[in-house]
Amino acid sequence: MTRPTFYITTPIYYPNDFLHIGHSYTTVAADALARYKRMRGFDVMYLTGTDEHGLKIQQRAEQAGQDVHEFLDGIIAWIKDLWAKLDISYDDFIRTTEERHTRVVEALFERLIDQGDIYLSDYEGWYCTPCESFWSERELVDGKCPDCGREVQFVREESYFFRMSKYVDRLLAFYDAHPDFIQPESRKNEMINNFIKPGLKDLCVSRTSFDWGIHVRRDPKHVVYVWLDALTNYITAIGYGSDDPQMQAKFERYWPADVHFVGKEIVRFHVIYWPIILMALGLPLPKKVYGHGFLMMRDGKMSKSKGNVIDPKLLIARYGSDAIRYFLLREIPFGQDGVFTPESLVQRLNYDLANDLGNLVHRSAAMMHRFVGGAVPASSAFGPLERDLAALCEQTVAEVEQHMDDMQFSLALGSIWSLIGRANKYIDEAAPWALNKAGERERLQTVMYTIAEAIRYASVLVAPFLPRTAEQIWAQYSVEPEQTTWESLRRFGTGAAGRAVAQRDPLFPRLDVEAELEALGALANKGRAPSSGTTAAEPNQPGPSQSAPVAAAKPAAQNATGLTPSGGPPEVGGKPRIGIDVFDQVELRVGQVELAERVPGADKLLRLMVNLGAETRQIVSGIAQHFQPEALVGQKVIVVTNLKPVKLRGVESNGMILAASHEGTLKLATVPPEMPNGAIVK
Ligand code: MSP
Repeated sequence: MTRPTFYITTPIYYPNDFLHIGHSYTTVAADALARYKRMRGFDVMYLTGTDEHGLKIQQRAEQAGQDVHEFLDGIIAWIKDLWAKLDISYDDFIRTTEERHTRVVEALFERLIDQGDIYLSDYEGWYCTPCESFWSERELVDGKCPDCGREVQFVREESYFFRMSKYVDRLLAFYDAHPDFIQPESRKNEMINNFIKPGLKDLCVSRTSFDWGIHVRRDPKHVVYVWLDALTNYITAIGYGSDDPQMQAKFERYWPADVHFVGKEIVRFHVIYWPIILMALGLPLPKKVYGHGFLMMRDGKMSKSKGNVIDPKLLIARYGSDAIRYFLLREIPFGQDGVFTPESLVQRLNYDLANDLGNLVHRSAAMMHRFVGGAVPASSAFGPLERDLAALCEQTVAEVEQHMDDMQFSLALGSIWSLIGRANKYIDEAAPWALNKAGERERLQTVMYTIAEAIRYASVLVAPFLPRTAEQIWAQYSVEPEQTTWESLRRFGTGAAGRAVAQRDPLFPRLDVEAELEALGALANKGRAPSSGTTAAEPNQPGPSQSAPVAAAKPAAQNATGLTPSGGPPEVGGKPRIGIDVFDQVELRVGQVELAERVPGADKLLRLMVNLGAETRQIVSGIAQHFQPEALVGQKVIVVTNLKPVKLRGVESNGMILAASHEGTLKLATVPPEMPNGAIVK
C-alpha cells in the first residue's frame, strides 16, 4: 500500500545576511509538523532553501569584496550548519542558483510569453531594494516602503509583465471553493480587501537594471524578477520540468503541496501571485498557505540596525536546540505575533523544561533505583488514580492530533504539559515512598510501572518538538523502538515491563535567572556581519558543534531562595524582601471570567471559570461577599496560574485571582480590555 504524502515548505530565505532567530521560527515550526507527519505514517517531503538572486545579494557580495558565488557558498554553509544545529529534518534544500531550478525558470518564462500571459511594456514606479518589491505612489507610507519603512527609488524601465488581472475571477472562485486555503482565516479578508478589490495590477516580472539573476532567453538584457524566480522553487525542487522520469514521478507524487509555511509579510505573494502563476501553467494549486506571525523583540521588529537581533547559534550553544525549539513553538500561538524576552525564555526553560519534564524524568529514575531495583516493574490491576492518569494520557494523544491538524503547536505543547503536570501530581498522590515504607510491594510496583508508562507517553508526544530529549528519555528508560511510535500510544499500559532505567543528569539544568538575563542581554546583536571578510562557513560560536546545552548556561545554586541575606535592605510591610528570581516563580496571566456562581453551602466562595487563552480554568475565590456573580462575567482579571490546585469545600481551585483590599472594600485587579486572555503579567 502506498503511503499518503505530505509536502511542506518554508520560504526560501535571502542569504544576503546571516539568519536570525525569527527565520528559525518558520523552519522549526515546519520541522515539528514534518516530524509529526512522519510519525503518523506519511511519506513526507520537507523542503527549505535559499533565494539567491537579486540586486541586494549582488550588492552584499560586492561590499564583502567577494565573488557572488563565493559569498553565497559561505552563507549557505552557515545556514545549513544552523539547520543541523537545530535538528531540522529537511528532505531537500534548494538553491535558486542551481541548474535544476534556473533551466526550468528560463523555459517556463518562454512558455508564458508564448501563451500571452507575459508581455513586454514599460514600468514606472517605486522600488524597495531590501524587500525586492515594487510599489505605486499610492501605496507608499510617508514616501517610504510600506513594508519596511526604508527609502524607495523611482524606476522607469522596459519590463515584462505578468497578466495577473486575467486570472482574478478564477482566483476568487478558488478561494470560495477552498475556504481553508489561506490560514489563519483573518489573512484572507486582508488579501481580498487590500490587494484584490482595489484592482489587481499586472506584476512586473523582469528587470534590466541589474544582472544577478536568471536571464530571459529571448531577451537576455532582462533578468527574471525575484518573486517569479523564487516562488517556482516549490515545483522545480521536486522535479517540475525535469527530463528525468524519476524526477517527473516525484513531481506527480508530491504536487500539490499540502502546506506552504510563510511569514505574514509574504502571504500576499503566496496566495495571489503564486496561485495565478500555477493557473497559467495549468498546475493544481497548493492546498494551504499558513501565514504565521512575527517573533518580535520588546522594541519591535528584529533588525540589525536596531541592534536587537539574536543569533540563533549563540542561543543553541547556550541552551541546546530542544530548549530553543520548545520556546519558539510554545510561547507564540502559531499565526499570532509574539515577543521574545529573555525573561520568558528563562521562565519557560526553568519551569516547563527543568521543573516539569526534567524533574519528572529525573526523580522517577531515582525512585526506580531506590524502590524497585532500577528497572520498570510489572503492574498489577490499576486503581482509580492509575485509570485517571491512563485516561488523560489517551485523551492527550487525541488532543495533540487535533491541534497538529490545526497547526496549533503551542496548544499541542500545552496539552502535553498538562499531562506532564498531572504525572508529577500522580507521583505526589500515589506517594511511592510511603508504599515502600509500608512494604506494599504490589501497589508500589503498579505505581512505578504507571509512572514509567506516563513518561513513555510524554516522550513520544514531545518527539516532533524535542527530538533530542525524546531520544534521551528512550535511551535512559530503555524504550524499545516499536514502543516509541505514535501507534504505540493507542492504549495505556502496553509499554513493556522489565526495562532497565539509568540514572542520568537532569535533562535540563535549572538556570540562575539573574545570570541568564544578563547573559542574554549581552547576546543581542552578536551575529557577525557577512562583510567581515572571514569565511561564513565556520559556525560563529566555538564550543560543541551539536546542540546539547553547554555549561555556559549558569545553573541555579542548589538551594537558592532569593531571600536577601541578613544585612540586606530592610523588610517591607512585614514581609522580607525577595530577589527577582523568587518573584519570577509566580506566573501571572490575564484571564476573563466566563462563568461565576456561588459555591453551595459556602457563603464566601464563588466558583469561576476563567478563560486564559489556551485553556479555561476553574478557580474558587473567597470574594462572594463583595461581588454579585453576574457582575463578574466578562471582567478581565489577573490570575496566579502556577499555584498548586487545592480543594475548597470539595471544589477544585486551580489558580487565584488578584484583588486589592482596603478597609473592608475589595476591588479586582484588572487590565484594559484589549489585553488578550493568557497575556503574561509581570
Ligand atoms: N526570499 C523571500 C521568500 C521567498 S519564498 C518563495 C523572503 N526571504 S527572507 O529571508 O526575508 O525570509 C522571510 C521569512 O523568514 C518570513 O516569511 C518568515 O517566514 C521568516 N521570518 C523572518 N523574520 C521573522 C521574524 N522576526 N519572525 C518570524 N518569522 C520571520 O522573504
